[in-house]
Amino acid sequence: MLKATNLTFKYEKNKPWLFEDFDLSIAPGEIVGLPGPSGRGKSTLAKILAGYLSSHEAGEVLIDGSPLRLNEFCPAQLIFQHPELAVNPRWKIKETLCEAGTPDKNLLEELSINNAWLERYPHELSGGELQRICLARALNPKVKYLLCDEMTSMLDALTQAAIWKVVLGVAKKRNLGLLVISHDGALISRLCDRTIPYFLS
Ligand SMILES: Nc1ncnc2c1ncn2[C@@H]1O[C@H](COP(=O)(O)OP(=O)(O)OP(=O)(O)O)[C@@H](O)[C@H]1O
Ligand SMILES: [Mg+2]
Repeated sequence: MLKATNLTFKYEKNKPWLFEDFDLSIAPGEIVGLPGPSGRGKSTLAKILAGYLSSHEAGEVLIDGSPLRLNEFCPAQLIFQHPELAVNPRWKIKETLCEAGTPDKNLLEELSINNAWLERYPHELSGGELQRICLARALNPKVKYLLCDEMTSMLDALTQAAIWKVVLGVAKKRNLGLLVISHDGALISRLCDRTIPYFLS
């Protein structure tokens, strides 16, 4: 289980909480939706779940009963909303892909990742192409939970459908738990087993 309890967070003192006593659990194989309007704190929450930020005030995140450990591969991998901020701009794409191990050639093909891109730098790819690179990097053999933050919002409908088909196929095969964060309520209801309405109220 990926289990978060009582997460409570704000960036600035003297401001209201972005979220308070937020609870979430995702079982292996489960697809959970987190919808909500812009600016409510969904990406912030995702960063806490993946260990990039800590919920200073209260709460904890446990994966299979253990707290997140710094400097270790996190079994919950975040696909960032803005892929250009999630890669080292000085690294070629092949270096980014190999950051957490050698990528699976079949997976690269399934995600329609072109071999020629591997020799390029991130600014030489489109946003959608770069997002697929981030997805391939996250789909490491060690990953157990994928936190997809607006993962396909910059893609056209056909590419979006193709990417989700691959992700759902891999998730099923490896029994991954998925958190789908999106403004797109229709996408969430199509993909998810259940929805957390916290940011809707
Ligand atoms: N590092 C930061 N320092 C201060 N405030 C921040 C920081 N990051 C985000 N915020 C603010 O926190 C709020 C929540 O941001 P967040 O990115 O989590 O929202 P979101 O729900 O993901 O929005 P969107 O749907 O537009 O992606 C916003 O008002 C944002 O301006
Ligand atoms: Mg966001």
